[in-house]
Amino acid sequence: MINKIIEISKEAGSVIREGFGTHFEVEFKGSSSNLVTEIDKKSEKLILDYIGKEFPSHSVLSEESGKRTRDSEYVWIVDPLDGTTNFAHGLPIFSVSIALQKNGETCCGAVYDVMRDVIYTAEINSGAFMDGKKIRVNSIDNFEESVLVTGFPYDIQNNPFNAVEKFEAFLLRARAVRRLGSAALDFCYVASGVFSGFWEVKLSPWDFAAGDLIVREAGGIVTDLEGKNLSINSSQILATNGLLHQKMLDILREN
Ligand code: IPD
Ligand code: CA
Ligand code: CA
Repeated sequence: MINKIIEISKEAGSVIREGFGTHFEVEFKGSSSNLVTEIDKKSEKLILDYIGKEFPSHSVLSEESGKRTRDSEYVWIVDPLDGTTNFAHGLPIFSVSIALQKNGETCCGAVYDVMRDVIYTAEINSGAFMDGKKIRVNSIDNFEESVLVTGFPYDIQNNPFNAVEKFEAFLLRARAVRRLGSAALDFCYVASGVFSGFWEVKLSPWDFAAGDLIVREAGGIVTDLEGKNLSINSSQILATNGLLHQKMLDILREN
């Protein structure tokens, strides 16, 4: 299964790479900061056609076209282009994220870093990999040596969770805090030991399904802000190397 996920992620990635820097149509999803491009849709069509052909009995949840429900224990969760704002503005940080769930549990997933041509993969109980090489979270247990990463919701003006205040709290403690613009890749950089922690307060299942498994299989911890395992309904997320988890949760929960 994972080989099929790798194959389709890379095919979708090629479509995205070909579209990068060209002239493409851009539409707005509600606000002027939430974009969708023609290339998001092209990538999604390719992935969904593939799944429809190979696994016609499986359900699908995909960002741009929503749910396709079948009477199946399997659900594919797809972000055909994670990092659309970067893509649309010519910043080469974006990915394709595909996960497969069985009875609500993610059994395998991949995040393809399109411009680096690097793929992160995980299968349940089998470890996490970057281009086939095993990866692990880092073992940093203090903020002073940590580089952290976050993202901001599209509706930051109205979101009650004070994202800027939390950003400041970590900025004043950590070695550095980054904001890359592709949540799926943020997870992978935690999984591969680059970042010690990643938090974001308004994610969707397609942003986190694959990354969640990749971090956990790399030895990290992923929970919501109550410290619970993620479900399809989660949106406030913390992924860490494990050693910083409680410390970061404490700060995120402070009012
Ligand atoms: C977005 C990116 C971004 C995160 C947003 C997501 P999209 O996904 O992952 O890093 O901050 O919350 O919605 O819209 O580019 O697929
Ligand atoms: Ca996304
Ligand atoms: Ca997307």
